[in-house]
Amino acid sequence: MSNNLLKGKRGVIFGALDDQSIAWKVAERCVEEGADIVLTNAPVAMRFGKIQELGKKLNAEIIPADATSMEDLENLFSKSMEVLGGPLDFVLHSIGMSLNVRKKREYTDVNYDWMHKTFDISAISFHRVMQTLMKLDAMNEWGSITALTYIAAQRTFPDYNEMAESKALLESFARSFGYHYGEKKKVRVNTISQSPTMTTAGSGIKGFQEFFDYAHNMSPLGNATADDCANYCVLTFSDLSRMVTMQNLYHDGGFSNMGMNPKVLE
Ligand SMILES: NC(=O)c1ccc[n+]([C@@H]2O[C@H](COP(=O)([O-])OP(=O)(O)OC[C@H]3O[C@@H](n4cnc5c(N)ncnc54)[C@H](O)[C@@H]3O)[C@@H](O)[C@H]2O)c1
Repeated sequence: MSNNLLKGKRGVIFGALDDQSIAWKVAERCVEEGADIVLTNAPVAMRFGKIQELGKKLNAEIIPADATSMEDLENLFSKSMEVLGGPLDFVLHSIGMSLNVRKKREYTDVNYDWMHKTFDISAISFHRVMQTLMKLDAMNEWGSITALTYIAAQRTFPDYNEMAESKALLESFARSFGYHYGEKKKVRVNTISQSPTMTTAGSGIKGFQEFFDYAHNMSPLGNATADDCANYCVLTFSDLSRMVTMQNLYHDGGFSNMGMNPKVLE
């Protein structure tokens, strides 16, 4: 269903790896709502993922970029403006990867080189993206930048490991950069705190299926799906949310405000 909420808008979407990726669904919904988009992902994801398939389907250009490389980001946003015909109206940061989780290192025994790399990929990349956009003056006034996060930034979820701190940092960048970008160009910056979702990044977390079920039972509306998340991203990119900035927006079926749901005890 389309309401042309993004008609005439141009955007760049990071992080579509395969059709389970949240970014994949967001890309589909943005195009459905009338946007012109560029897709991007790390060069290595070009080989292992299915992003080419999505590019063909949506008639969207794909420009590879490692989100930890300033050179790649400059190239990405300069080329995106050329391809799309002008500055951008929205950007989705949908990037997360933990080396210690991937290599099964416990939180109390992490490798710090890997932890640095995790922070760079999962959080500092968000600052890099915004700094590059600002330097290139690549965003239109009232544009919107959204990143995806998780409630482990506020509460303890032991198996989420160093991703908890990554998300806390990511959310803080949204507030701090949101101030600067708002003052300078009325650009809005928010994070969406999404329910557990069955994706490559999500299912890499230990005991994810049990945890997914727990969150689903705890939330009065159940877990929000990737498709629901795509709808919410469209809202944050649209003019309907033009005065919302520097916020962490919970999109979790109510999970974040629950103490106990008797369903969980049954
Ligand atoms: N799946 C969940 O349960 C869940 C819940 C809340 C928030 N999130 C967040 O949603 C976002 C998207 O994750 P997803 O669940 O769709 O999984 P996903 O694995 O499909 O997406 C993660 C993406 O990050 C990309 N990436 C990794 N390193 C990169 C780099 N150096 N440069 C550019 N891109 C890089 C990957 O290629 C991949 O496309 C992440 O920020 C994740 O933390 C996920």
